[in-house]
Amino acid sequence: MSVMHEDNADLPAILEAARRIAVDFRSGVAGRPVASPVTTVAEQRLPERGVGSVQALERFEKEIAPHLSGSVGPRYLGYVTGGATAASLAGDWLTGAVDQNPPSPGDSIAPALTHETIGMLADLFGLPFGKDGFDGTYTSGALGANLLGASCYREWIGRKLSRNVTHDGAMDLSGFEVFSASPHATMLKAQGMVGMGRRNYTSVSRLPGREAMSVDALAAALAASTARAKVVIASAGIVSTGDFEDLNAIADLCENHGAWLHVDGAFGLFARCSPRFAELAAGVERADSITTDCHKWLNVPYDSGLFLTRHLDLLEDAMRLTAPYLETDDPAPSYINRSVESSQRFRALPVWMTLLAYGRAGVRDMVERTCDLAAELGDRITTMQGYELLAPVRLNIVLFRGVFGEDETSNARQKALMEAINATGRVFLTPGLFDGKQGMRAAFSNWMTQPHDIDIIADALEAGRYSLTREGAA
Ligand SMILES: Cc1ncc(COP(=O)(O)O)c(C=O)c1O
Repeated sequence: MSVMHEDNADLPAILEAARRIAVDFRSGVAGRPVASPVTTVAEQRLPERGVGSVQALERFEKEIAPHLSGSVGPRYLGYVTGGATAASLAGDWLTGAVDQNPPSPGDSIAPALTHETIGMLADLFGLPFGKDGFDGTYTSGALGANLLGASCYREWIGRKLSRNVTHDGAMDLSGFEVFSASPHATMLKAQGMVGMGRRNYTSVSRLPGREAMSVDALAAALAASTARAKVVIASAGIVSTGDFEDLNAIADLCENHGAWLHVDGAFGLFARCSPRFAELAAGVERADSITTDCHKWLNVPYDSGLFLTRHLDLLEDAMRLTAPYLETDDPAPSYINRSVESSQRFRALPVWMTLLAYGRAGVRDMVERTCDLAAELGDRITTMQGYELLAPVRLNIVLFRGVFGEDETSNARQKALMEAINATGRVFLTPGLFDGKQGMRAAFSNWMTQPHDIDIIADALEAGRYSLTREGAA
């Protein structure tokens, strides 16, 4: 019998062992260093004969698990990082167990469930779904969704300029202009990938002291443009400070100028889940295309992004994949014609589990709780000696820096401070830059974080600063 067959005969015991390791990891996550000090791995050799899953799991537990980060836990505040709830994790495990390939309709309910869950998410965000509203597809993340956004507006530009860019190419495309103030790096990468150029956009001025676009500057730039096809990339939640743009005013301008509006709401779209914050993202329903992520604030395991558009025909023109062996008469949506990937995970299942298990109120509570925690840390920082906020806390992101005296706010000093804080193992922060000032960001988007974590984070800030100033004095 092959090792695979032997293993499968032992499946319940293997899954039980994996379950135990997973539960131990998660229940210990709050007590372990948030970032692992060990980041290198002993050389791995391909064995001629495999050891079987039981031994592989033993090695995982001993050699790998201790050196993983605590990103699933309450004090990993780098980037914008979600965790995994019980429901989303169970859904994710089952995704692997049932191993469906939802892009291929006609053999299961997976494509139909994918469609239904996208509708549930649209409902969660207060967006119209279906024929006269939005529709779309899951993606690998916000980068994947921004790539679909760029693919759609490239297709739209092509139609306006009487060009079939998907078939004939876009390398010499001209007659269009893209406008943005604070595009996320992934949006620019997406533009590069569709052949429109990472740098090929008009940089619109920001409001004074803000990351958000000046609507007056956009109005002037659109009016001055002679391009036949205009695209505006706006943001609902900008990554350094969590700032929001005035989407209604931007949508008015787009309407007047016949411009395409793409909104990157990778995390900020979740503001719409709470009546306390929904106003920040008002107007997003007027966009032509929208990016968001489930692996951020919905706390679904990686990878899970979402792309929505009002122009499914453009998406399907850009993403169509045809081959005789792929043909089907099934009426369910063919996600193969909406996605970058051909084969893909059944991403809808962890989302469905989450939405069913926790409902609208559960997501609203999580969003509000994490925003309250961000506000609390922001308040502490304003009264803490040796630190200052670099921007007001608008949603779930706290951007701040150390204050060492007039001449000591250099980038290197801030980086050293952040590393000293992270070295405490109690919190993990990543850098942030705003208005030319280097600092560090704490982004709250994990369901696990509790008020007492703010005490631990505040202690880590004190300890990091103390260790740095002591080092400097030595
Ligand atoms: C506004 C925005 N867009 C895009 C991204 C990229 O997200 P992902 O890593 O899921 O591609 C991020 C990540 O933080 C983001 O904040």
